[in-house]
Amino acid sequence: MTNNTQTPFNAKKYYSNILSIVPFYDEFHKQTLGLVKQLDLQSLSWLDLGCGSGELCLKAAEVFPDICFTMVDPSEQMLELAKEKSLHLNACYICSTSQEINFNSEFDVITAIMSHHYLDTVSRCRAVFNTFHALKDGGIFICFENTVPEFEKLKDFELARWGNFQLDSGRTHEQVNEHLKRCGTSYFPLTISEHISLLRSTGFRVYNIFWHSYMQTGFYAIK
Ligand SMILES: C[S@@+](CC[C@H](N)C(=O)[O-])C[C@H]1O[C@@H](n2cnc3c(N)ncnc32)[C@H](O)[C@@H]1O
Repeated sequence: MTNNTQTPFNAKKYYSNILSIVPFYDEFHKQTLGLVKQLDLQSLSWLDLGCGSGELCLKAAEVFPDICFTMVDPSEQMLELAKEKSLHLNACYICSTSQEINFNSEFDVITAIMSHHYLDTVSRCRAVFNTFHALKDGGIFICFENTVPEFEKLKDFELARWGNFQLDSGRTHEQVNEHLKRCGTSYFPLTISEHISLLRSTGFRVYNIFWHSYMQTGFYAIK
C-alpha cells in the first residue's frame, strides 16, 4: 500500500485550505448526508474512500449513531489525523488507494468525495469497479468530482470563474494560477457525460447528478 497523496497540503491545514479553494465544499458533505438520510436505512456500514482528515465520517456519526465506518486513504498522514479525530467512532482505518481495495458486497454506502480526480483512466475505472464490487445489492455510491464542461471551449471560462472565487476568498493571484495550472496536469477531470458513462458501464442500475456548481459535480449510483 502507498502513503503517497497528491493533495498539495499538510494534512492538518487541509480542511481550512480547501474551503477557500473549492466553492461550497461544506455543501458536498451536507448534500451527501441528506441523500443517505433519505434512504432511511436501518443499520449502516459505510466505506469512505479518500477519507482525508475524516470530516465526512465525523459529521455522519452525528446524524447516524449506529454506523460502522471503514475509512480508506493512501496518505498515512491523513489517515492518522482521521484516526486521532474519530477515536470515539465505531471505525476501522485502511491505508490504501481506491484502485487497490478488495471488498465483496460489504457496504450499504460508499462515498468518495473529491478523491478520484488524481487518477488516470485505467485506475479510475478500477476504482469505480472496486466500489461496485464492495457495495451490497441496493447499496449506494456517492461521489463528488471535479468536472470539465462538455464544450472544450468553455473550459478556460469556467477555470477563470473558479479562480475568481479563490481570489474573493483571499488567495493571491500567484496561488490561484498555481492551482488552476494543476487541471489536466496533476488532476484529470472528466466531463459529466464521461462520468455517467463510467457508472453505466460498471453496472450500476441507476445513477444521477444531484449537485453541480463551478467545476464540481455530485453523482450517486445504486447497485
Ligand atoms: C481533496 S481530499 C478529500 C478528502 C475527503 N474526502 C473530504 O471530503 O474532505 C482527497 C483525498 O483523496 C486521497 N486520495 C488520493 N489518491 C487517492 C486514491 N487513488 N484513492 C483514494 N483516495 C485517494 C488523498 O490522500 C486525500 O486525502
